[in-house]
Amino acid sequence: MESLDHHTARAMLEWQIELGADECIVDLPVNRYDLPEKIAKPEAASAPARGPAAPALRAEADPVAEAQAAASAARTLDDLRAAIEGFEHCDLKRGARNLVFSDGIAGAPVMIVGEAPGREEDRQGKPFVGTAGQLLDRMFAALDMGRTREDAPIYITNTLPWRPPQNRDPKPEEIAMLKPFLLRHIELADPKVLVMMGNWACQALLGKRGITRLRGGWEKVVDKPALPMFHPAYLLRNPAAKREAWADLLTLREAVDK
Ligand code: URA
Repeated sequence: MESLDHHTARAMLEWQIELGADECIVDLPVNRYDLPEKIAKPEAASAPARGPAAPALRAEADPVAEAQAAASAARTLDDLRAAIEGFEHCDLKRGARNLVFSDGIAGAPVMIVGEAPGREEDRQGKPFVGTAGQLLDRMFAALDMGRTREDAPIYITNTLPWRPPQNRDPKPEEIAMLKPFLLRHIELADPKVLVMMGNWACQALLGKRGITRLRGGWEKVVDKPALPMFHPAYLLRNPAAKREAWADLLTLREAVDK
């Protein structure tokens, strides 16, 4: 490309930022036309067979079944992290800087399931480290609990372990293929109670949304009591809802202390 003058280059950059491309994800541009045959035309699936030498159809991968097999083979949280790291069917992985697996203390009585990593979480490889995470820490500090409190720990993960581009909503197929890992995560972390922060955790684990109606009412997930609560990011936008969030935290405290 011939060199651009400063003003043109700047205008092009600003145009990209306006379109939402506000981050470099890889060092070099990716030529999507060069990607492996995986995404090239499916092999003559509908072409008529010409005699006995017709090409065999390639077996389609079933990402949900593969996730299920990989998740159930995991015997420890480290195995599970490795299984997610090795899972190649989710495109989110290719756009993310880091896998965001968990934070806090495994084995804690409370396990929190959020939505998905944002920019800061993606950078640090830890869930809830941005502004919503700071509020989450304050909420649990008010219950005298925290992610670094050996004596009163919490454990934190997300519905999706990789950041969706531009923090867009999770897609149903992403939730479906990553759900086996999330369920196994809950089994292995084995909390006394589960907290589902916001609509997407409820969608993944309960198959329903509507957090304003669901919050504060106990549900069951892998045989554990599970409490839907407002997401801290929602509370930052709607401070008036902190009243209900506080009531839910007290409900949670009671269940932990039982
Ligand atoms: N919101 C989430 O749901 N999870 C995070 O890790 C950060 C923000």
